Amino acid sequence: MEARPTPEILLEPGALDAALRADVRAGLTATPKTLPPKWFYDDRGSALFDEITRLEEYYPTRRERAILVERAPEIATLTGARTLVELGAGSGEKTRILLDALPLDTYVPVDVSGEFLADAATKIAADYPGLTVRPVVADLEEHLAEVSGGPAELVVFLGGTIGNMVPEERAAFLATVRSLVGDDGAFLLGADLVKDPERLVRAYDDARGVTAEFNRNVLSVINARLGADFNPKEFEHVAVWDPVEEWIEMRLRARSAQTVRIPALDLTVEFAEGEETRTEISAKFRPERIKEELTVAGFGIRALWTDPDGDFSLTLAVPTSV
Ligand code: SAH
Ligand code: AVI
Repeated sequence: MEARPTPEILLEPGALDAALRADVRAGLTATPKTLPPKWFYDDRGSALFDEITRLEEYYPTRRERAILVERAPEIATLTGARTLVELGAGSGEKTRILLDALPLDTYVPVDVSGEFLADAATKIAADYPGLTVRPVVADLEEHLAEVSGGPAELVVFLGGTIGNMVPEERAAFLATVRSLVGDDGAFLLGADLVKDPERLVRAYDDARGVTAEFNRNVLSVINARLGADFNPKEFEHVAVWDPVEEWIEMRLRARSAQTVRIPALDLTVEFAEGEETRTEISAKFRPERIKEELTVAGFGIRALWTDPDGDFSLTLAVPTSV
């Protein structure tokens, strides 16, 4: 029988519910309304994200994979890491390139999406029998400092998920990663790069409507967990490029006036026709900005690689010596 690694739970289901309640109340009573992107990722949302990664329009996953394939031997030589901690691991599919190249004893995938994480960890444990796989269910905004991978640690954060944080969250996150890495470890960061806005919008508004389903899934999550009565079909998916902030904004626009009841919060929310709720930002970077933000957080840059088309970046950073 397949061994199923038991996840360490830093995020208890009760705390998850409390965080969802707080975020939904704050976000849907604010003007303009917002919802944080971490609530996309129930089982269905995680599966939809996986489908997004295979879309023709969604280039980041393919580009990051190409960089990993090319650079994994160097990453192995430069870090010699035996323990790999992956933040926001998802399916961990691309990470297999690192698992193949590095002399690892232990892989610690960390994610908020508990069931999906456990399934992904089970598959990886089955395919890498010599590797200790230690999944951790955690909210990176709350528990990052408690995640520990042991010595000679390489912390990786792939996919460009760093772009889903607003700049202040990003700065706090990078500073916490710096403490997590200690003085002997390294940090590998995937970040999407600024490019032609038309291509960017297509990547976030695909022809088959998978991203639209992913976006609306946050409403289904609120229905399932808080007993709300959103009709997701009444909300239109919107993806726009903000040239000043240099990020894509995903929004849900009410097709008609909506009154939504959220019993778990004893809250009724009114949406005007055409009103938009921001559900995600996906910031795109210039290499200098990545280097600068990592430097401010206490890292030195060992390498910043891109794919041949310059679409995506992977940065290897090490703690600045004190
Ligand atoms: N690293 C993978 C998956 C990226 S999708 C890749 O590169 O393809 C983003 C992942 O981050 C999802 O699996 C989601 O569940 C997780 N995630 C989002 N917000 C999180 C948070 N606050 N804490 C922990 N995990 C989070
Ligand atoms: C997880 N994250 C990096 C994705 C992104 O590209 O910002 C989430 C996503 N949103 C829409 N498509 C994909």
